[in-house]
Amino acid sequence: MARHLITSAIPYINGIKHLGNLVGSQLPADLYARYLRARGHEVLFLCATDEHGTPAELAAAKAGKPVAEYCAEMHAVQAEIARGFRLSFDHFGRSSSAQNRALTQSFAKRLAEQGLIREVVEKQMYSVADGRFLPDRYIEGTCPNCGFESARGDQCDNCTKQLDPVDLINPRSTVSGSTELELRETKHLYLRQSDMRAQLQDWIDSKADWPVLTTSIAKKWLNDGDGLQDRGITRDLQWGVPAQFDGAPWQGMDGKVFYVWFDAPIEYIACAQEWAEATGGDWQRWWRTDAGAQDVTYTQFMGKDNVPFHTLSFPATILGSAEPWKLVDYIKSFNYLNYDGGQFSTSRGRGVFMDQALSLLPADYWRWWLLSHAPESSDAEFTWENFQQSANKDLADVLGNLVSRVTKFCRSKFGETVPEGGTWGAAEDALIAEVETRLRAYEAYMEAMEVRKAAIELRSIWVAGNEYLQAAAPWTVVKTDPAQAAAMIRLALNLIRVYAVISQPFIPDAAASMMAGMKTDDWSWPNDLRAALGALPVGHVFEVPEVLFRKITDEERAEWQARFAGVRD
Ligand code: 2FM
Ligand code: ZN
Repeated sequence: MARHLITSAIPYINGIKHLGNLVGSQLPADLYARYLRARGHEVLFLCATDEHGTPAELAAAKAGKPVAEYCAEMHAVQAEIARGFRLSFDHFGRSSSAQNRALTQSFAKRLAEQGLIREVVEKQMYSVADGRFLPDRYIEGTCPNCGFESARGDQCDNCTKQLDPVDLINPRSTVSGSTELELRETKHLYLRQSDMRAQLQDWIDSKADWPVLTTSIAKKWLNDGDGLQDRGITRDLQWGVPAQFDGAPWQGMDGKVFYVWFDAPIEYIACAQEWAEATGGDWQRWWRTDAGAQDVTYTQFMGKDNVPFHTLSFPATILGSAEPWKLVDYIKSFNYLNYDGGQFSTSRGRGVFMDQALSLLPADYWRWWLLSHAPESSDAEFTWENFQQSANKDLADVLGNLVSRVTKFCRSKFGETVPEGGTWGAAEDALIAEVETRLRAYEAYMEAMEVRKAAIELRSIWVAGNEYLQAAAPWTVVKTDPAQAAAMIRLALNLIRVYAVISQPFIPDAAASMMAGMKTDDWSWPNDLRAALGALPVGHVFEVPEVLFRKITDEERAEWQARFAGVRD
């Protein structure tokens, strides 16, 4: 038994996430956590909401609520949706927690003591009407390059030229529309990341087993001249972790906060502290290498846009502290999921959002489709046709049908108990051999976090059961040789339990129904498949479960496709 720390990138607090966000971090992290628990490992699986920064402030203002209240409400909403998707976090924390505030401040202090912080005075756009400095992307104006009138302060979306807000013609605040903008001096703390290039390079080079997607992004930033510049870790905002040390503001930093990307990954540690406070657990065992965490395997899950922060910035914080913190062992990153010929868009409400998905169908339908189409080696695309086809075929026709046929047939011919008689022969041996081979491949893929390949193996295991039944045809055999039909059904009923155990990481609710139907609580992993196929002995009572998966009709598919094509209110 090993110990595994698993974190998913923490979702921003402003708004409900779409299915692309879900499949890029939380869902595969959950799959892995569930699998490792099922194999008997000790797992601490953490996620949280990422609550600081300008977007949270603006979303709260739009909702007409104080930002702290807005965040508390949205955290509860996101937690409820996560439960709906059966995301099995051991703790779902908040980056605005007292723990994260203290830890973020202590990291900054420690980095300063190590000589890794410098102060920089710079000029930034201040909006007099809004009474605040504005981040570059909240300033708009006319592009000096192409004349596009809604170019952002950081980049023109029309001609893609990288801009500085002072380049814009007729700049205005996107918060209030005010043009009363002026350049003001402001002081910020910078982390001397450039001093740590060699250390980071060595660390990345030591990760030969990481996915190419992860290391290629990390190396690009490391070697790309610009990539490892010193990084501003404070902002002129009200909402965030105050730039204070031991309760007193750092000189000249009064009224400033740490940058959201500085405190967000620190929440991975703070979240363990929140978990410890809630449960009495020992967080240091998971995070401090002087307290047992050297034995922990730490895996992070995230979308590709988050990779630079996790391969360079956060490790710079950890390594720079020169304290015995656990560093990540493996980073599993994902490409993007697109939506029906375009992109998911939070701002334009294009695509299916997590709450909407659950209002259409139970979690397992989404979990299965998303995981079996995870954007691992390239971007992937959600289409309603593909979703309908995959749910109807894999879940309803293959798995659901097998469970229903076997249990109903048994009830009608032998009653709701595992029937006696007959023996397993060549056909049964062949099935067991195939399932055994595929099961070992499935385990290897799950261990390697090869999500799509694992899904293919799992589906093939379901298909093998169905094909066996089709060929063995106990409904025909029962007419001439009831004992032999009983032997076949005994195998099939036991197969249902095994399927529940191994499918649980993908489709936990259906697995629970199958297990409840088999009236057992034996979730032990089929290490010895033949033995596992005898777990439900002759005479064991079961009941026919409710229909596991219904089919999605063509009318539903067409209606949903139209409904989610654009603008959510
Ligand atoms: O991209 C995002 O959704 C960020 N909120 C992820 C933060 S992950 C971590 F660093 F905390
Ligand atoms: Zn332009």
